[in-house]
Amino acid sequence: MAIRKIRVIGDEILRKKCKPVKEISPRIEDLVEDMFETMYDANGVGLAAPQVGVLKRIVVIDVEDGNQYVLINPEILETRGSQTGSEGCLSVPGKSGIVTRPDYVKVRAYDLSMDVFELEGEGLLARAICHECDHLEGDLYVDKVEGELVDVASEEDFEEIEGVE
Ligand code: NI
Repeated sequence: MAIRKIRVIGDEILRKKCKPVKEISPRIEDLVEDMFETMYDANGVGLAAPQVGVLKRIVVIDVEDGNQYVLINPEILETRGSQTGSEGCLSVPGKSGIVTRPDYVKVRAYDLSMDVFELEGEGLLARAICHECDHLEGDLYVDKVEGELVDVASEEDFEEIEGVE
């Protein structure tokens, strides 16, 4: 396991569309482990592979509901409702902004055995799924911010905001 360097906004890799994973190699398994380690080290609740410079459709999420989610080739099947709230991104350090997202999301993805599964999320989990799936298309939350990005004032606030990614 290793902590990988998180790419920050301005790095063009964050704007590229990611390629589907065709098979789970030891390299992919290592990548997923490293993504969790990198995410926890940065106090995030989600991370997408392009954020560590890998253009593959892989997302990891842990919104502290007791579950670690690995979503390979995720596809959002259904969304409902909406939630408007503060969001941040480990690739946009020190900033946050208001983004409206669905309040419920159903996603289909593959796990590390390449078995297909469906995951339903509400609230923060729904927000995290949408935010991370956007990364796979080269989309960043800053494109969707209502109003201006704001500076995150203190270390304490920063950790709270990073609670959204
Ligand atoms: Ni992000």
